[in-house]
Amino acid sequence: MKVLILGIDGYLGWPLALRLGARGHEVIGIDNLSTRTFSEEVGADSAFPLPNPEDRVKEAKKHLGIDINFYVRDVNDYEFLKEVLRRHKPDVVVHFAEQRSAPFSMKDYKHAVYTLENNLSSTVKLVYAIKEVDPTIHILKMGTMGEYGTPNFDIPESPFVEVEIKGKKDKIVFPRWGGSVYHWSKIFDTDLLLYFNSLFGITVTDIMQGPVYGTRTQEIVNESLRTRFDFDETWGTVVNRFCVEAILGLPLTPYGKGGQIRGFISLEDSMEALRLLIEHPPNQGEYRLVHQFAEIYSVRKIAEIVKAAAESLGIETRIQNVENPRVEAEEHYYNPEIKVLPSLGFYPKKNLKDEAKAMIEDLLPYKERLSRFKHVIMPKTKWRR
Ligand SMILES: NC(=O)c1ccc[n+]([C@@H]2O[C@H](COP(=O)([O-])OP(=O)(O)OC[C@H]3O[C@@H](n4cnc5c(N)ncnc54)[C@H](O)[C@@H]3O)[C@@H](O)[C@H]2O)c1
Repeated sequence: MKVLILGIDGYLGWPLALRLGARGHEVIGIDNLSTRTFSEEVGADSAFPLPNPEDRVKEAKKHLGIDINFYVRDVNDYEFLKEVLRRHKPDVVVHFAEQRSAPFSMKDYKHAVYTLENNLSSTVKLVYAIKEVDPTIHILKMGTMGEYGTPNFDIPESPFVEVEIKGKKDKIVFPRWGGSVYHWSKIFDTDLLLYFNSLFGITVTDIMQGPVYGTRTQEIVNESLRTRFDFDETWGTVVNRFCVEAILGLPLTPYGKGGQIRGFISLEDSMEALRLLIEHPPNQGEYRLVHQFAEIYSVRKIAEIVKAAAESLGIETRIQNVENPRVEAEEHYYNPEIKVLPSLGFYPKKNLKDEAKAMIEDLLPYKERLSRFKHVIMPKTKWRR
């Protein structure tokens, strides 16, 4: 297949390019390197130094024998996006090219507006570009389990639910509640994709993914192939942040009570799930919603697992709950359904306990580099000032 990855330079985009290339698919990617730039804006950087795009492509060829076509451009350049679709005729476009940090979106009005403009505009432009160039192209769009918030009822793996109000029944979009402007941008993306699917009949896989953790995939066989790894308060997701805290001798810091429950997935399992969804597209004109996670944990439990992993490597650490900078339920019900990925034969091969140890092992050689960014790990961005 021919796959166009928007956001190919990112934490998920790069290993997906390697996975698909290694499977014999033709990979084309676009990225404006904004995560690199914005990470520097908050005084942080990737734990692993990143080669520039040109070198990344060369290293992929050298170690895996794969050819990747990498364009350093903004996907919001509509004419360019259409030109790439025309030139390469992809079967599927994977859309990762969004501002993906909740704290970044909550810094001030400028960051909130940027997040909404960048994320919604790229989704709408992609839909129209596909409609103009070839409406049969499958859009695989990455949303987040965070779109649902934490409702006090089970979360179905379906965009619609039947409701009965005052004796009358109808089908409505399942209610969602974002916990940041970033999460609202993902909710609006989903609404737009549902709308354009019904309007133009475009084929969509809309993935609700839980936070991803990990440093390894089958194809990362050399340091030069590593994907970015963020651990600061703005860009780092919880497991990745805790692993670096342990290495730097900082306490592991669950926000608030730490009873926030989420569905997590390792980088390796996320790549495998994405591969399956790309190789098994929905029917033409279908909108397919997918829940993508492997294990469900509270943040408190994650801190305990990372602490045990660090201790198994001789690193003493402690857990210290800190004031929650976010506005979110700290104890709640959580029960999302998951059936699409298992129906495609997906089963998780990794677990947090083993992966946390592997992550710490991979990060330890970079301890000196990590310690330079110690000051950007503790939460500073507060949802309510
Ligand atoms: N990492 C996770 O835990 C996680 C969990 C759920 C959902 N997601 C979603 O998955 C997607 C990928 O996440 P990630 O962790 O790889 O993030 P990332 O920030 O590492 O990667 C996104 C890439 O998109 C690029 N980008 C952003 N806007 C662009 C634009 N206008 N034009 C071109 N390139 C642009 C960035 O430079 C970056 O390289 C995001 O949409 C994110 O919201 C991630």
